Amino acid sequence: MSSLIDRDARVLWHPATHFHDLERLPPIAVQRARGSWLFDHDGNAVLDGISSWWTSVHGHGHPRIVEAIRAQVERLDHVMFAGFTHEPAVALAESLIRRAPPGYGKVFFADCGSAAVEIALKMSFQYHHQTGQTQRTRFATLANSYHGETMGALAVCGSDAYRDAFAPLLMDVVELPAPALDRHEHADLRTDAGADTPEADAAVAMLERHADELSAVILEPLIQCAGKMTMTGAGFYRRIAEAAQRLGVHVITDEIAVGFGRTGRLLASEWAGVVPDLLCLSKGLSGGVLPLACVLIRDGFERAFAGAPSRSFMHSHTFTANPIACAAGLASLELFDETRLLAKLDARVEAMARRRRAVAEGCARVRHHRQLGMIAAFEVFDDPAAPRVLDGRLGLALREAALARGVLLRPLHDTIYWMPPLTVDDQELDRLAAVTRATIEAVLG
Ligand SMILES: Cc1ncc(COP(=O)(O)O)c(C=O)c1O
Repeated sequence: MSSLIDRDARVLWHPATHFHDLERLPPIAVQRARGSWLFDHDGNAVLDGISSWWTSVHGHGHPRIVEAIRAQVERLDHVMFAGFTHEPAVALAESLIRRAPPGYGKVFFADCGSAAVEIALKMSFQYHHQTGQTQRTRFATLANSYHGETMGALAVCGSDAYRDAFAPLLMDVVELPAPALDRHEHADLRTDAGADTPEADAAVAMLERHADELSAVILEPLIQCAGKMTMTGAGFYRRIAEAAQRLGVHVITDEIAVGFGRTGRLLASEWAGVVPDLLCLSKGLSGGVLPLACVLIRDGFERAFAGAPSRSFMHSHTFTANPIACAAGLASLELFDETRLLAKLDARVEAMARRRRAVAEGCARVRHHRQLGMIAAFEVFDDPAAPRVLDGRLGLALREAALARGVLLRPLHDTIYWMPPLTVDDQELDRLAAVTRATIEAVLG
């Protein structure tokens, strides 16, 4: 496949990739994908241990979704969504509202996660502007959070790793502390964990201090995925959300990474019983097959945009509610019912937990391991006296070693994680575990 890689190198610029690293680890030319597997042009199989950036829910190429896409593209490929509507968008919005906990009234579609975050931020701001609260011009976020990389979404990232290069361009936000519960022993991250931490007390105090100027607080529920899979807990999420709503500050929940079953329920917010004002979804929304995102909007929120002096919501994307992507999303939600995926998930979660514990117990270089639903993570460490990864590129070295063994892992520096399709089977989990262990041993000894 060298000619395709050479052509790629001549004309393409890849996301989150340094040109220098491409010499060491060129892209893999993937020709097809099925279930949990990617296949390159030579027929080599790679196990997709991270659902291709957390997208694939039912596995790649699920025939039910492929057929829905085929049928839709033959009927209606695309039509603009201002002044027009269509069955797939209406049906998907109805289905989302029906499956989500009660309290949502409307859906606004977009085409990527960052766009959903931009929409939520702007919608909150314009809401306050139109209801006479023009002093609410700032946003609060959590330290170590990630919300995307367009300017607004980047500004509300609580991590310098993403923000630093563009800091002078970004709006000033209030950064609240967040706990890292994996550092402690917690019985179940999905219930009350995090509510009584010092970080929760400090975050509530900061919200109270800034309450009058805040438009919204944006929260990743239970876990900060790009923030090295740091568990913050359902209790922390509930406490911050309740404090914000008591203070008239909107709650924007970002379930772009954790929605659609990753935590064991359709939405992670269900564990905490929180109904945010605005809830952002993407990635698994189309089953992970086509670019699609949306914001679920709390019932009645739209009234601030309906009165005579108010303006329409000033936001539009060309491909809003693309019919093919919506048809894929609808098929994906129907598949949850047809395969009883969520009901079967507890057994998958336990199967993953057994392998996670075995890897952690068998590897001297694993420091912390933790799991939330179908997301497992391990923190690994080098020998400080005699480091084996001498160029400091631990994540890259681990990724390279796993790929050489036929598994796609994309560690976040020292944090290896698993987030396979929810349909992953026992043999695939065995392989994920065996390769993770071999990778840690090969790179760190
Ligand atoms: C929690 C969270 N929010 C927002 C985004 C941004 O989504 P996108 O990459 O589709 O713009 C991501 C992407 O990983 C994410 O994990």
